[in-house]
Amino acid sequence: MKDDIKEILFNAEEIDAKVTEIANKLNDCYKGQEVVMVGVLKGCLPFYIDLARKVNFPVRFDFICASSYGSGTESSGNLKISKDLSAPIENKNVLIIEDILDSGNTLSKLYDNFSKRNPKSLRMCCFLDKPSRRVSEINVDFIGFSIPDEFVVGYGLDYAERFRELPYIGILKPEIYQNN
Ligand code: IMP
Ligand code: MG
Repeated sequence: MKDDIKEILFNAEEIDAKVTEIANKLNDCYKGQEVVMVGVLKGCLPFYIDLARKVNFPVRFDFICASSYGSGTESSGNLKISKDLSAPIENKNVLIIEDILDSGNTLSKLYDNFSKRNPKSLRMCCFLDKPSRRVSEINVDFIGFSIPDEFVVGYGLDYAERFRELPYIGILKPEIYQNN
C-alpha cells in the first residue's frame, strides 16, 4: 500500500491536532447550541467521527451521499444525491462536513440545495482545501489544511474506493491513476 504513496502530507498526530483546532473554533461559533452535522459520504467519515467526539455542543448525526465525481480524478460538475438526509433540517443549525474542497462544485450545489430547506443556520466545514482548482465560487466557514494541486488519499479520501482506511493523508503516485 505504501508503495502507492509518493509522500505523506499529514500524519495521524498532525491530523489530530488540526481536528482539535477546528473543534475549538466550532465550540466558539455554536456555544452550546444543537447542531445537525451532515456528513458527505463516504470521504467525510474519519474526520466526521473525530470532530464529533471533540466538540462540546449537542450534535445530531445525519449523512448525505452526494458527489460530483465518478471514479476518476476530475469533477464532472453534476451533483448526484444517491442518499438524502434522514430528517428535515428546517429551523436547525446545519453544519456540512466534507473531506476536501476541490473545484467547489459539490459543496456549492449542496449549499444551494440545503438553503432551500430553510435551516436556521448553514455552515460548511472541510478538512482539506485545494484552492488552485476552484471553479465554483464558495465561502467555506471552517477549513483544516490548504494543500497543493496533487491527488491525495487516506483519512477517508479515496482513489476508485481504495486507500480510505489509511490513518494519514498522502499524495498518490501519478502512475497509479494514469495507468487506469
Ligand atoms: P469538488 O466538487 O471538485 O470540490 O470535489 C469534491 C470531492 O472530490 C471530494 O468530496 C472528493 O470526493 C473528491 N476529491 C477532490 N480532490 C480529491 C483528492 O485529491 N483525493 C480524493 N478525492 C478528491
Ligand atoms: Mg468524496
